[in-house]
Formats: sequence, structure tokens, C-alpha cells
Amino acid sequence: GRPGVAGATEIDPGNLPPNVPMWGHYLGDGVDAEPYGSPSPHEAHVVRRNVPWLTATTESSVNFTPIQDLHGFVTPNGLCFERHHAGTAEVNPAEYRLMINGLVDKPMIFTMEDILRFPCESRFYFMECAANSGMEWRGAQLNGVQYTHGMIHCVQYTGVPLRVILDQVGVKPNGKWLMAEGGDASGMNRSIPLEKALDDTLLAFAMNGEMLRPSNGYPLRLVLPGWEGNMWVKWIRRIEVGDQPWFAREETSKYTDLLADGRARYFTWEMDAKSVITGPCPEKPVLHKGVNQIKGLAWSGRGTVKRVDVSLDGGRNWMQARLPDPVLPKCLTCFNAEFEWNGEEVLLQSRVIDDTGYVQPTMQALQKVRGVNSIYHNNSIQTWLVNKTGEVENVRLG
Ligand code: MTE
Ligand code: CO
Repeated sequence: GRPGVAGATEIDPGNLPPNVPMWGHYLGDGVDAEPYGSPSPHEAHVVRRNVPWLTATTESSVNFTPIQDLHGFVTPNGLCFERHHAGTAEVNPAEYRLMINGLVDKPMIFTMEDILRFPCESRFYFMECAANSGMEWRGAQLNGVQYTHGMIHCVQYTGVPLRVILDQVGVKPNGKWLMAEGGDASGMNRSIPLEKALDDTLLAFAMNGEMLRPSNGYPLRLVLPGWEGNMWVKWIRRIEVGDQPWFAREETSKYTDLLADGRARYFTWEMDAKSVITGPCPEKPVLHKGVNQIKGLAWSGRGTVKRVDVSLDGGRNWMQARLPDPVLPKCLTCFNAEFEWNGEEVLLQSRVIDDTGYVQPTMQALQKVRGVNSIYHNNSIQTWLVNKTGEVENVRLG
């Protein structure tokens, strides 16, 4: 038998220098042990997590990406948060069809084989659910960055530009809007302006080099770079071209923002610039005095991250963080900085500025414009309180 238990946390001094550790004393598994690989058992804590009380049923549910445990800006496929209104559709790609109808010269039905014959492109994009941080509008709620900011992922999508497919059917001159409809049991649908469809929209079939995972829309989903996640219709089965928007459920009763004066803000497609510190954070306390690293993520649905500032005193003073390459448009952007910790209380914050000049607001500034009744589109500055023991807490500054 093989010594040691995978995942054990006790340290065996026999494995430390100058000894040759036990894993150097026997032959390991051959290449056929696991044809599709999985992470080290020591990383078993890095998983998506669910907050069961957030949704009424497991079919209509959401989980959260463990952004506190990730490195760089790419989310591994198995850790991408999932949100679905009627569970994961079990699509057989051989029976999959994409239908395009409405104000077109030639309505068409495409198979997956048809789709894969068109020239494709591969690009990195973040996707954020409009409800990310939605529980935090009235005060600090969830004590973990996975829960406050984890409805986001960033992968390299491969797909066919939607404009290439629309060329095939020929959009009529009065065709100005598309209605994209999902093939899952929710039949979720959204209206999309033609300009976005002709700009950078993809019909994606792959993420991070492999075919989409079933819960992320296998075999085909919409990718609307920079726009709210709800519009990225998964298991897409139909696109109808029309001359006006549809005002579907998801763009009227949902994904609108109730303002203080009782009016609702709607069609807020672009995700405003936002950033968050992913370490230290409630899941990653400060463990030692002296120099500590701050790391985090920043993004903007309107373009490219230009600058990220970090504060240790709740926003009174700011220092500029480093932005290691690459900094890509509509993509998660990593930032980092150092801070010296001597056991005092610290109020950690980050704020992003994008290439439109937009500065991430405080919650107070956001509430002046938006009131307190919103759920969606909270891009305000997050505060983490590092207390004297090094533990980190989600707090709201008054
Ligand atoms: N598309 C369909 N067909 N059905 C859905 O329930 N959920 C939407 C969107 N597209 C949904 C859908 C929402 S609210 C979000 S945030 C994203 O898909 C989630 O995509 P993901 O599961 O790949 O993270
Ligand atoms: Co969503």
C-alpha cells in the first residue's frame, strides 16, 4: 500500500528536507489513471457554493464562483458559477437546431454541424449576472467574497460571430431587434438590439478550449460581451428578427431597477465598472504581520480597465495598484498591491476607473441616483474590515 492519506493536513517531518518525501519513494499512477483530469485532492475546498435560501427551488437556482481561490483572470470551467431558471437542459447535439425567423429574407434552421462550418473566433470575456452583489443594497449581508461577488466568470469563448449567421438569413431593412430564446424548460428570452448582434456578439460553442459544459448552455449559447449575464441565452433554440423589442418577462418584471421615485430603469445592458479585493477577504484572513499582498479583480462592461486604486482607511487615502498584463477589454483584469500590517484595524477598499473615465462609486453615491429598492446592478465599492486578529469582515461604511 501507499503511505499517507490524500488531503491529510498533519505534517509528517519525514517528508521535510533533508529527507526525500514519501512521494519520491514509489511509482505514481500511469497516464491512463484519469483520462479527464481533476484537481489535486488538496484543493477540494475550491468549489462553487450555493446559498439555498436565495432561490425558491433547486431548478431555479444559482451558485457562486470561488474567486477568492482563483489565480489570473481565467475561470476554470468546473468552477464557473451557474444560473438557471429551470435547471440544466439535457441537449443532444445531434437533435439540436437553431431556428432564425421573423424579418429575414430566408428563415433558416441550423444544425450544430452547420454552425461548426463557419469561421470562428476565440476571445476572453467576463460574464456577470446583473444580480451579483444584489443582496448588499441595504447593508452588508453575506460574509464572503464568493457570495458578494461570485456571480461572475471569465473564460475564453470560441464561437461564430452572430453577424456571420445573420448574413446567411438576410435581415430585412426594418429588422432592428432580435429576440433570443432558450431551449430549456424556462424558454427564457430577451430582446437584443441589432447593433449589438452585428458588433461583437458570438454564438459560442466552446469555453476554455472545450465544448460548453451542459449547465453553461451546451451546445450553443449567446455571448454578449460586457452586457448583463441574463441576456447570454443558453441552449439557444431560436432567434426572431423584429422591428421593436419584445418586453419579455426578464426585461420588465426582472432585471429592471426600481428607482426612488417609483419609476423603473430598464434595458440597462452594459455592466458598469466594478472591482473587488479577493484577498484579504472574509475567506482569506491576514495571517502574519509585516508585508502582505492585496489581490483582486476589476472589470468594465464598457471597455478596458485603466486604473485600480486601493485604500487601507476606508477611502480617505488611495494608492495605485499594479495591473499585470494582459489587460483586455470586457475581460476580468487582475490587480495587486502590498500593505504593511502591524495588527491594527484596516478598512480595505478598491475602486476601478475604466477607459471611459468612469469611476466606481461608493454605495452612498450609487444610492443617490438609484435609491435603495434595487436588486440588480450594484457595482459599488466593497469594504473589508481587517480586525486586530487578522480576521476579515464584510462591512458597510456609514
Ligand atoms: N439562458 C437560459 N436559456 N435559461 C436561463 O435560465 N439564465 C441567465 C443566462 N442565460 C438563463 C440563460 C442568467 S440570469 C445568467 S446570469 C446566465 O445565463 C448564467 O450563465 P452561466 O450559468 O453560464 O453562468
Ligand atoms: Co443572471
